[in-house]
Amino acid sequence: QPPVEIAAQVVRWQAGHGRNHLPWQNTRDAYRVWLSEIMLQQTQVATVLEYYARFLARFPDVVQLAAAPQDEVLALWSGLGYYSRARNLHRCAQIVVQQHGGRFPRTVPELAALPGIGRSTAGAIAAFCFGERAAILDANVRRVLTRVLGFRADLAEAKNERELWRLAEALLPKGDLHAAMPRYTQGLMDLGAGICLPRNPSCMLCPLQNVCVARRDGNPQDYPVRTRK
Ligand code: ADE
Ligand code: SF4
Repeated sequence: QPPVEIAAQVVRWQAGHGRNHLPWQNTRDAYRVWLSEIMLQQTQVATVLEYYARFLARFPDVVQLAAAPQDEVLALWSGLGYYSRARNLHRCAQIVVQQHGGRFPRTVPELAALPGIGRSTAGAIAAFCFGERAAILDANVRRVLTRVLGFRADLAEAKNERELWRLAEALLPKGDLHAAMPRYTQGLMDLGAGICLPRNPSCMLCPLQNVCVARRDGNPQDYPVRTRK
């Protein structure tokens, strides 16, 4: 099945079955999307909800965050853990204000140059806020895509990791579907979080069940392949 069909299936499934009412959705405000993505890097949605609301109430935009004392930022982060995230968050806000006029850049290379923003987070921000054709490859999406594609190469090797990124980019919506980049991106996240689970994935509910190599082979649990950490 050609890549364009996979994108279309993910987009259609997301519209009917994905999550569409999370507080960082239905906005193109890069500050809000960025903040959510950083919090969600190592913390579950249910926990993030409360912290996200409190953080936004205190720091409604990037200018106010940049101007805050670091102590106060860390205090609002307290409980989320991984405090380097909070320090990077603060530094990132200051760079966006000082070097980008208070507006987040829209391309993946520019976003990924900012503190705390890796390639996948950059892709998520670019897709959600700016509709860019940018791939994401966080742990959940990596599991979905390796299974669908039957990608068995060892991701501990950089060349295989690069190849998976290339494949993720080849699957992106194009043509008429380009406008659905935010929904496609959210759809992959939603599949990884709710359907294509590490153990016992719900393949019977999956929009990709008819193209998925791992399902065909009966071994989704064997993906992704990574020999060392
Ligand atoms: N995890 C990372 N990004 C997310 C998003 N936009 N929605 C839900 N979970 C996420
Ligand atoms: Fe994951 Fe199953 Fe869907 Fe394949 S068919 S992507 S293993 S949930």
